[in-house]
Amino acid sequence: MVYVTRREVFSSAHRLLNPALSDEENYELYDKCFSPNYHGHNYVLEVVVAGDIDPRTGYVIDLKHLKDIMKKNVIGKMDHRNLNTDVDFLQGINPTAENLAVAIWNQLVSHIPQGKLYSVKIYETENNYAEYKGE
Ligand code: NI
Repeated sequence: MVYVTRREVFSSAHRLLNPALSDEENYELYDKCFSPNYHGHNYVLEVVVAGDIDPRTGYVIDLKHLKDIMKKNVIGKMDHRNLNTDVDFLQGINPTAENLAVAIWNQLVSHIPQGKLYSVKIYETENNYAEYKGE
C-alpha cells in the first residue's frame, strides 16, 4: 500500500456557535471564535489517498486528478467564502476543524476513482489541526 497526498491552501471566514446554546454559553465555550462579525483563517487541507501502484502509470492516483476533484468539490466552494453561510455542504454545521474534516471527507469520498480515500487533515492554524479517516 502506498499513500499519496495533495495539499491545498484556502482562506475562509467563520464563526463557531452551537445554536442550541445561549449566547452566554457559546461565549463561554468559544470565546473570540464566537464574535458576531466572523474571523478568518488560512486553512491548509491535506488529502491522502491509499492504494496499490498502477503498473501502467506508476501512480496510486494521478495527483493532478486529485487536485481537480478537491478544487471542484471543496476548495472552489470554501475559498474566500463564509463557512457559516455560503457553502452548500456546510449548511447547519458548526465549522470547527473537526466538523470540517468530516464534511470534506463526505464531499470527496465518492469521487476518488482509483485507490481509496485514507485521510482528510485540515489545519486551522499552524499548530491546530483535525484529521478524519472515515470512522
Ligand atoms: Ni476560528
